[in-house]
Amino acid sequence: HKGIRKIACIGAGYVGGPTMSVIAQKNPHIQVTVVDLNAGRIDAWNDENFDNLPVYEPGLDAVIAEARGRNLFFSTHVEKAIMEADMIFISVNTPTKTYGKGKGQAADLKFIELCARQIAEVATSPKIIVEKSTIPVRTAATIKSILDHTGKGVPFQVLSNPEFLAEGTAIQDLYKPDRILIGGEDPDAIAALRSIYEAWVPSDRIIATNLWSSELSKLVANAFLAQRVSSINSISELCEVTGANVDEVAQAIGRDSRIGPKFLKASVGFGGSCFQKDLLNLVYIARSYNLNQVADYWEQVIKINDHQKIRFAEKIIQTMYNTVNGKKIAFMGWAFKKDTNDTRESAAIYVADHLLEERAKIEVFDPKVQENQIYNDLNALATRSKEENQKLLKAVSSPYQACEGAHAIALLTEWDEFIEYDWQRIKNNMRKPAFVFDGRKILDRKKLEDLGFIYYAIGE
Ligand code: NAD
Ligand code: UDX
Repeated sequence: HKGIRKIACIGAGYVGGPTMSVIAQKNPHIQVTVVDLNAGRIDAWNDENFDNLPVYEPGLDAVIAEARGRNLFFSTHVEKAIMEADMIFISVNTPTKTYGKGKGQAADLKFIELCARQIAEVATSPKIIVEKSTIPVRTAATIKSILDHTGKGVPFQVLSNPEFLAEGTAIQDLYKPDRILIGGEDPDAIAALRSIYEAWVPSDRIIATNLWSSELSKLVANAFLAQRVSSINSISELCEVTGANVDEVAQAIGRDSRIGPKFLKASVGFGGSCFQKDLLNLVYIARSYNLNQVADYWEQVIKINDHQKIRFAEKIIQTMYNTVNGKKIAFMGWAFKKDTNDTRESAAIYVADHLLEERAKIEVFDPKVQENQIYNDLNALATRSKEENQKLLKAVSSPYQACEGAHAIALLTEWDEFIEYDWQRIKNNMRKPAFVFDGRKILDRKKLEDLGFIYYAIGE
């Protein structure tokens, strides 16, 4: 393994936690330490009760059970982990800037720079630094410059190794990646990182490129994926006015092997911490090189997504006789997709905000999202006071309770269990007419209509 005995990962989030757990599981002879400044998060990673892990991912608990305490450690001792490691992954957050130049678009690289400075300050032996976070193209040059100017003269190699896992399927994606991408200049450093992945990934799936191609490919992959969702979502609106059915259209075009069947599910809009952030970042980079046509092209993907979320909320209001004032609307789901507790940029947040402006009362049920998270998401928009949000919206622990006395149900996340609910019982306890607005197209129209629901689904 080219001498890699100890790995440190800075950032124990949705990427650092699962990724390092699998690397540790598959490389039992390498000691892997995941560090974070957030002590609460580290405590949660060390919790004996797997229900308390900070990230919910199917299969993650089994990986942790096998590796934690053997060669996988979660700690707040950032400096110690850096000092001891041969290879350091940087997996910190790179959010959209909320201030100054590039506000609302550019990536905030404050946390990346802090990591580089801290590594330089502490390191007394050669290190390979791996960019795992998603960053703007050419960030490796920034990291290298900081390391070389502020370090103690020890050699550093910088590699780019973007992560392509999707939440909700992280463990499967890590076990069987379509590809592992490594960007870098130094053949030995690349070989060292490659050998870690070769513990379980076939070598023909490991691609090496130059640094800038690797960094840029991550932004481009997310831009293309998001573009597919916006493309089908734009068609969903056309389907609604023409009598076409968007699922049928998706199936018909997806059979063309050049188009392919995946990522064509019309929805209430994409969410998650990556798509919007990375698109905005791409747009910002293009504009910073004066490539305005390129920037406008990709910006349109975000505009369609915003339109889709508002369009769904408007459809609810319009269908419910143009007013939702004082009406109870049950939200099924708050997470940005199924099988995760992550709510970042979830469409549900924006749909709720829009309906609350119209003075609806909302009760939310999500199998994995806690009430305080829902309030944090809404309060962060600062559309109204915390007190008002608390008055107008409630989270409950049973779907049947959420639907009790409701005028309408808005389905925002495609959790499998929603399909299996006792829809007769739900209907019986609702106000009539009982509306269902399916933002994920997972329910059976015929079944619901036979029960007497008025059913609306995106793109039909
Ligand atoms: P996250 O917010 O869940 O985790 C980041 C963690 O880094 C936080 O716990 C934070 O406390 C910690 N941190 C920040 N600065 C630190 C420092 N100086 N020292 C120690 N800890 C520090 O973020 P995430 O979702 O794991 O994403 C991390 C990166 O990976 C981002 O660049 C993101 O774009 C990228 N990415 C995310 C996904 C995803 O599905 N979430 C997928 C691919 C790539
Ligand atoms: C995405 C990328 O897929 C992943 O490769 C990258 O590493 C991180 O960003 P993630 O955001 O976790 O992953 O989930 P993803 O499955 O891509 O879904 C993103 C959003 O698009 C979700 O809100 C999802 O519901 C929505 N979506 C996805 C659709 O609406 N329709 C689709 O067909 C696919």
